[in-house]
Amino acid sequence: MKRENFVCKGDICYSQNLQTLHTVQNGYLVCENGVCAGVFDTLPEQYKNFDILDYTGKLILPGFTDLHVHAPQHRFRALGMDLELLEWLETHTFPQEAKYADTTYAKENYARFVEEMKKGPNTRACVFGTIHGASTEILMELLENAGLCAMVGKVNMDRNSPDYLQEESAEVSAKDTITFLEHMKQKYPHVTPILTPRFLPTCSDTLLTKLGDIQKKYKIPVQSHLSENTSEVEWVKELFPTSSCYGDAYDSFGLFGGESCPTIMAHCVLSGEVEIALMKKRGIFVAHCPESNSNLLSGIAPIRRYLDEGISVGLGSDIAGGTRCSIFYAMAEAVRMSKMRWRLVDESLAPLTVPEVFYLATVGGGAFFGKVGKFEKGYAFDAFVLDDSRYDNKGEYNIAQRLERAVYLSNDDEVLHKFVAGRQLF
Ligand code: GUN
Ligand code: FE
Repeated sequence: MKRENFVCKGDICYSQNLQTLHTVQNGYLVCENGVCAGVFDTLPEQYKNFDILDYTGKLILPGFTDLHVHAPQHRFRALGMDLELLEWLETHTFPQEAKYADTTYAKENYARFVEEMKKGPNTRACVFGTIHGASTEILMELLENAGLCAMVGKVNMDRNSPDYLQEESAEVSAKDTITFLEHMKQKYPHVTPILTPRFLPTCSDTLLTKLGDIQKKYKIPVQSHLSENTSEVEWVKELFPTSSCYGDAYDSFGLFGGESCPTIMAHCVLSGEVEIALMKKRGIFVAHCPESNSNLLSGIAPIRRYLDEGISVGLGSDIAGGTRCSIFYAMAEAVRMSKMRWRLVDESLAPLTVPEVFYLATVGGGAFFGKVGKFEKGYAFDAFVLDDSRYDNKGEYNIAQRLERAVYLSNDDEVLHKFVAGRQLF
């Protein structure tokens, strides 16, 4: 529903910064001209004639950003979780993605992914499609029609892939990418294209050179995978023997951040000192996908280190390395995994806290889309209303404690209402 000016009344919480939650019990969250105007204890005079949506007793939170998700993998999620990354790709992922050559199959299955994303707490996502341009365009149409905000990529892979999921050549891959970009660059207001080389093992030097040129010409953002799993990192070393690290190889093709190349790199579990310095210099966004990293035996990313360095970090489901779309689930996993890392790997890096992962889910990932993830003036109006009455709070917990319980206990059906970029979806 389009309603430019309105007020949501309820128990409001957002991150002021990494450590600090701003909470207001029985407060007023104002949307003015489709954009957030702020949170107030009492409703200021100038908003008195706005419609009030009364969510008294419910939590009102900023929408979450899923910074890394594979839409075609939603179909087979939670299968093959006993395999490591490369074996899992060959056994489950590639055969599944090949089916999206068929646009009818794509329409039916992408609709289910979009349906799940729509009903949960996520309002935005950076999404991988497949190598198939037409199916990826269908995915974008479904996301736009659902009212979500997303960046979506047609995937590039022209080598080291099975015949049934490998583009004919670097030229064909680049040409199909340009066709996709020309179709989609201005087609929708809320869903836009993003350049998506799958990862270095499946992209030839010729293709990467062409993608670097395309990035410069179209000035579009980039998403890919970086230093995820031991055998993958070893393979990249063999493929790019002269690069100082995995990230440096992307960088040599102009696909690793910098002024006009906003870039998300998923995982960064095994990044070393040289790579971390380059990530920082180039302003890379890290998509931390803790559930995937445990399922695919990748390890535990040093997120505390990245935060200490001032590197941007958001959370990703990495469906189907992960199993749940809801970023609440990634938040709980991020805390758990950081504790394991602290206990088993390195006690100098303190575990993440609930306020910190809430920041990553909202402001951290949201920043890739601009002013997103806070309830401050001028931010996009992305919010959801959560009914946490099932957790038996009985009035004894404050808003920060209720948020903490929601992180561990929530289900999608407790999301009663959702707003994305000022529009009410339900
Ligand atoms: N690396 C290359 N492709 C993939 C993928 O589909 N999922 C994950 N987790 N890592 C990848
Ligand atoms: Fe991934």
